[in-house]
Amino acid sequence: MNRERSLSGSNGYGRELGIDVMAEMSARARASTPVRWLDLCCGSGRAPAEAARLATERGLTDRVEIIGLDLVDHFVPGPHPAMVRLISGSVARWVPDGRFDLITCVHGLHYVGDKLGVLSRVASWLTGDGLFIANFDARSVRRADGTPAGRTLTARLRAQGFAYDSARRRVSRRGHGQVRLPYRYLGADDQAGPNYTGQPAVDSFYDPLP
Ligand SMILES: C[S@@+](CC[C@H](N)C(=O)[O-])C[C@H]1O[C@@H](n2cnc3c(N)ncnc32)[C@H](O)[C@@H]1O
Repeated sequence: MNRERSLSGSNGYGRELGIDVMAEMSARARASTPVRWLDLCCGSGRAPAEAARLATERGLTDRVEIIGLDLVDHFVPGPHPAMVRLISGSVARWVPDGRFDLITCVHGLHYVGDKLGVLSRVASWLTGDGLFIANFDARSVRRADGTPAGRTLTARLRAQGFAYDSARRRVSRRGHGQVRLPYRYLGADDQAGPNYTGQPAVDSFYDPLP
């Protein structure tokens, strides 16, 4: 499991998410309130710490706030600029102190049990035009009999305002919303084996609701 990704480079956040995190933040940092980036499952927090250093160099010290959240509190050693906080906690239970303009999750959802629950939570944490983007393999969401939830899932995600890029296996969303995905979480299998990344991942099981 790679917990050390940088913001850029061949294996960096830019490539994995298809967005330039610094460009997103810089564009929004002109508004009156600080731009806020939440990086879920941030691993070592290397990318958020790098972003904070770059934002400082670009004179955005008071214009940017960054939170990195991970289950494991093994973070890159500081000191870090005050605009970044690396916090340990589970994305399934953590409660934010406000909304975010940008929420990312780089190869973290693969390890989460209730993935659809997290997608619903995240939608409520976005600002009105905030952007959420994450690596997400829809095949890891399964029915009780083990078959993938398939197109019904992606259609239901779209109906609730998410976009799913099946070629790149990314889920994204623009804007705050109170989402209710019609699935009942049954549990997860952490012995599901490798997913498309080649790394062992977790399958999540649901009963589709009418
Ligand atoms: C493959 S690593 C990716 C880390 C980082 N995003 C990167 O690309 O370098 C996945 C991370 O997800 C974290 N993780 C797994 N389940 C989590 C949960 N429920 N809440 C928060 N973090 C979680 C793991 O601790 C691990 O650091």
